[in-house]
This record gives sequence, structure tokens and C-alpha cells, in this order.
Amino acid sequence: MKILIVGSGGREHALVWKISQSKRVTKIFAAPGNPGMTQLAERVDIKPASIIELADFAQEHQIDLTVIGPEQPLALGIVDEFNNRNLKIFGPSQKAAMIETSKSFAKEFMRKNNIPTPEFKVFAAAAEALEHFSRAQFPLVVKADGLAAGKGVYICRNPEDAADAVNEIMVEGKYGKSGERVVVEDFVAGSEMSFMAVCDGKRIFPLATSMDYKKALDGDKGPNTGGMGAISPAPQINRELFNQIMKSIIQPTVAGLKFENKEYRGLLYAGLMITREGPQVLEFNARFGDPETQVVLMRLKSDLVDILEGAADQNLFDVPADWDENVAGCVVLASRGYPKKYTGGHPIEGLERAKSLGVEVFHAGTAQEAEGLVSAGGRVLNVCASGPTLKEAMAKIYDGISFVAFEGMVFRRDIGWSRK
Ligand code: GLY
Repeated sequence: MKILIVGSGGREHALVWKISQSKRVTKIFAAPGNPGMTQLAERVDIKPASIIELADFAQEHQIDLTVIGPEQPLALGIVDEFNNRNLKIFGPSQKAAMIETSKSFAKEFMRKNNIPTPEFKVFAAAAEALEHFSRAQFPLVVKADGLAAGKGVYICRNPEDAADAVNEIMVEGKYGKSGERVVVEDFVAGSEMSFMAVCDGKRIFPLATSMDYKKALDGDKGPNTGGMGAISPAPQINRELFNQIMKSIIQPTVAGLKFENKEYRGLLYAGLMITREGPQVLEFNARFGDPETQVVLMRLKSDLVDILEGAADQNLFDVPADWDENVAGCVVLASRGYPKKYTGGHPIEGLERAKSLGVEVFHAGTAQEAEGLVSAGGRVLNVCASGPTLKEAMAKIYDGISFVAFEGMVFRRDIGWSRK
């Protein structure tokens, strides 16, 4: 089989790595991919947003299955474009991807389907939101309605914070059209976890549980990021909670979307808060989590291609779920300043020595220059490993990291151990 992976981050590198282990696969292309993938995949210079070019490429090269990493091509309708041309693709249609691309749609959908989520209001005018803040209870959460590249979520302690958030989103237009509306949501406390499931429109294949560490600094301090690390399984989950999440969240979501003629085929990601009253959905994503995917795939023993193809073919019947008992961890090496301003172009050293310890190093934001590999993103590398205990897995990762260096390299030293 020939596979095309769309995207260029650590998540896509992990997908390439896992898919390359499938006996069914003869060739992998990555568009545009990253330097870490070059031994496993041929890189193709097409951007994820260029959905027509991607479909042309898949047609010309007789790609058997295309797998989408980031949300942007889903929002642009890449799956519909491929389906119209009878090209097999893993991901939800543009309509189904609204579960991520419109927070107001997702929240109304959850309300309608009794899926537990914090109480909320949607505002299309800044003045109305400000008026609401004068009588609202704080803290609360203000979110831009549309895609905001992992940003656009503000936890507000008082009306002034909330007014600043609305100003940035709706008045200054920091997120463009994505900020034409805001969702204002109750703040709920608890422990966060990520739940990912592959869906074929009707059937659901839950992946091993995981959690990421969203804050930039040790002790869950500092600004939110896309994720500074992850572990699998999520320590706070037991069989009972797993079943509750499936029954109260994942199954009604897939059934509800089907009922609305938005059949969900692809990866459904639920960002959950486990509260004293049970799990609540903070957000849905229509794509694999990053860096949760890295740790979940470290533990997957089944053939990932069978699972992804089963979903694309609406045939997720007998796909075996075979997970490694080991615990997996991932630590993100980032550029100082991320998630705000940072610099790139700094030479990276020590990857081969780190890998000789048995860790996997996925590239997230790197570039290959004439003089060698350099940093080229906020999140630069993902150092991952598994072991019989979380402590052993994390010790291996941090040993590996001790060999890696680039100017401005920062990372959290408490991944795995802080167990929110
Ligand atoms: N790690 C969070 C996300 O992928 O959205």
C-alpha cells in the first residue's frame, strides 16, 4: 500500500513511524513532512492547506490511503474533495469537523445531546458579552468560536480579564473570522485528560488513554501551550470511568453526529475535565492530539493501517486492539519563549547519542540546513520512551534529553511525575 500523511509536526512523525511498521505498507509520502521522517518517508513539497494539490498528488501517485494530521485541511474540506474523487482518506468531512472548527456548534450539539460540558453562552457582539460579565460568576472561560491554532482560550479571573479577552478576540480581531463570535463558559475544576477514539461513522475504536501537560512551566505554571509532554495511560482513569466516558460522551457524540447527517469518520479527540460530578467535555478536536498521539502510538501493537483503513471504509469491525502494558511518556523540547516569541535556526546536537539509549525522538519543528539540523519551531523535538513503570519510562527519557542541546532549549522537568 502507498500512504500519504499530511502534516509536518511530531504527531505526523509518530504516524509515519508507526505506519512504517505495517507489513502492508510499501511506500509512505509525507506532505510536507519534516527532516526526522526522511528515512521512512518521501517528503512532498505541498502545504496541508493546498487541498486540491494534495488530491491531485494522491490521484497521480495512486495513493491507497491518505491520513490527515492537522485540523486546517479538515476545515477546508479535504475529506470531501478526496471522497468526490473516490480517493480513500482518513478524517472527518468538513461538516463533521465542525465539532472542532466551531466551538458554538460543538457546545449547542452537546447541550442538545445531553453530553456533559460546562454551562455556556454564545455572543456575536462584544457589547453583549461585556454586559454579561457585569453579572457573571468568576472565574470563567472565554473562547474564540473558530480555529485559533491552539490559542484563543482565556481563563478569566475577573470582568477586566474577560473584557481584555473579548477585546483581543472580537475587537482587535486577533484570530480573524474565528473571533466573530465567542463562547463564554463556566470554569470547572478537576483533572484533565485526553480521550481519543477512531470512528467509522457508527462504530468506535477507543485508543489507549492519555493526558498531556498543557502549561509551559513545571508545576503546571505559565501560559497554555499545545502540550509540553504526555503520558499514556492517563493515571486518573479506571475501567469504570472509561466506560462512563464511552457511554456518556463518545457514543452519544458519534450517534448524534450521524443523526444530524454529519457522520463522523476519523479521529475524535475529547479534551476532558474529570470533575467531582464526573467527566465533562472542555473541547472536541477532529484530529489526533499532539503530543498525546506520540505516547499512544508507542503502546499500540496492532497494525495502525488496519484501524485507519477500517474507519475510512466504514468497516471497523474486527480490528484487534492490542496494547503494550508498558507505560509511555513524551517530553517536548521547545524553544525558549514558546508559546510566545522565540527564535529558530539553532544547530541541534546529540540526537544519535540520545537515540542509542533506546528513546524515540520525533521531530516537531526542525529544518535541515547545509550545516546540519536546526531548530525551526516553538516545539522542536519530542523525546519518547516506554517502560514497565512511569518512573522508568521518564528516567529513560530524561537520560536521553541530557545528550540533546540547542540554543534556547527548554523543557518541563516534571512530566509524568506531577500527575495533575
Ligand atoms: N495536546 C492538545 C491538542 O492536541 O490539542
